[in-house]
Amino acid sequence: MKVLLIGGGGREHAIAWKLAESELVEKVFVVPGNGGTALEAKCENRPLAGEEVIAFVQTEGIALTVVGPEAPLAAGIVDQFRKSGLAIIGPDKNAARLEASKVFSKDFMSRYGVRTAKSRAFSEYREALLYLETLALEQKLVIKADGLAAGKGVLIAETISEAKAALRALMQERTLGDAGKTALIEEFLDGREVSVLAAVSAHPGARGVIRPFVAARDYKRRFDGNAGPNTGGMGAIAPVPDFSPAVQEDFIRHILEPTLQGMETEGFDYRGFIFFGLMINREKSYLLEYNARLGDPETQAVLPLMDADFARLCLAMLDGSLAEFPLAWKSGAVCAPVAVADGYPGAYHQGEFISIDHARFAHTNARLFAAGAELRGTELYTAGGRVFTVSAYGQDAFTAREQAYTALEAFNFDSMTFRKDIGSVL
Ligand code: AMP
Ligand code: GLY
Repeated sequence: MKVLLIGGGGREHAIAWKLAESELVEKVFVVPGNGGTALEAKCENRPLAGEEVIAFVQTEGIALTVVGPEAPLAAGIVDQFRKSGLAIIGPDKNAARLEASKVFSKDFMSRYGVRTAKSRAFSEYREALLYLETLALEQKLVIKADGLAAGKGVLIAETISEAKAALRALMQERTLGDAGKTALIEEFLDGREVSVLAAVSAHPGARGVIRPFVAARDYKRRFDGNAGPNTGGMGAIAPVPDFSPAVQEDFIRHILEPTLQGMETEGFDYRGFIFFGLMINREKSYLLEYNARLGDPETQAVLPLMDADFARLCLAMLDGSLAEFPLAWKSGAVCAPVAVADGYPGAYHQGEFISIDHARFAHTNARLFAAGAELRGTELYTAGGRVFTVSAYGQDAFTAREQAYTALEAFNFDSMTFRKDIGSVL
């Protein structure tokens, strides 16, 4: 069958590779894709936009569409496809609000008893300030924009005056536009973050199912030792050594199961992937957020461990057989550091030639997942801040890390830099 994948980041390169691995799949069209998907076996990039996408799916006889990023989900692409009788993986627009609106998401969590940080939502700036007056001065707080803000909507305030400044920026100055019309003031949770990606099959009239994947960790901070500004992710590992079976059980009971119950009760049409962003504190999991999609760069670390056919998994999510699907995982570990352009997440250069020592790279147990990299002729050039991920497999975490860093030595571009400690710090 022919498959269409929407997106153009490292996550989509990983999904495209995994889809192409399936014997069911004859071709993967990636919209728009990147320099890596352009080179991947069975894959072909298509620069389509808006209505062109659905028209292409219909004329080309695409049997399955998979959506990578959140924006098209929040805009209702799934509803549009289903209305036209086309098979698509993702939540509908209503269910995608679990990511697109933090207020909706928090209300959902509290309605169904999903364990999370205490939080209050405000759509009036003055009321938010009055609420802050009632809190202790030295309290650490988290200020969040309600809407989608491409990773810029969360600020950790060390003091009440920082919290006030953040609220003013969001609600008065509208630095994030309408995303900050409503803001949340949330209790700060300490601990270690874990990302659990999962496949969901829930729709009215059927019993819902959520099948979690091996846990992953995203290294969000720019510099070694988890220092510096937040980024879109400087690397990922899977599995997560400190996500013990006991913590996992706690997650299932206090987060996954109530989420599924909520989806059933609300009558969600959610046949897609979900991302649980967890904070683990004293062996207890708290849900920081849902994303209505797979994570980036977690997907680049998790999919190489999946010992199952990804295209068949998608079909099982659609046809109601997800509970019986043989979802298995390889033993061992993946370490996936991201090569970025120096300056990222601030200003950086683009258009640099990426040299690859193919022989050296082939000697490692790593694959390349391109992100901000474009193909010119037969060569890759940088076209973004996060340029590519090398995703290395090893029979244990130590070997995976060694393989990943050896693999990175096969690559170079002028402003290339990366974190040296992915997988060696928690
Ligand atoms: P979110 O978009 O809600 O996941 O927030 C982005 C990041 O902000 C998370 O990955 C955490 O690092 C941090 N964060 C969010 N909420 C909290 C919280 N309640 N306590 C501590 N850190 C948080
Ligand atoms: N890695 C975090 C995200 O995909 O949102």
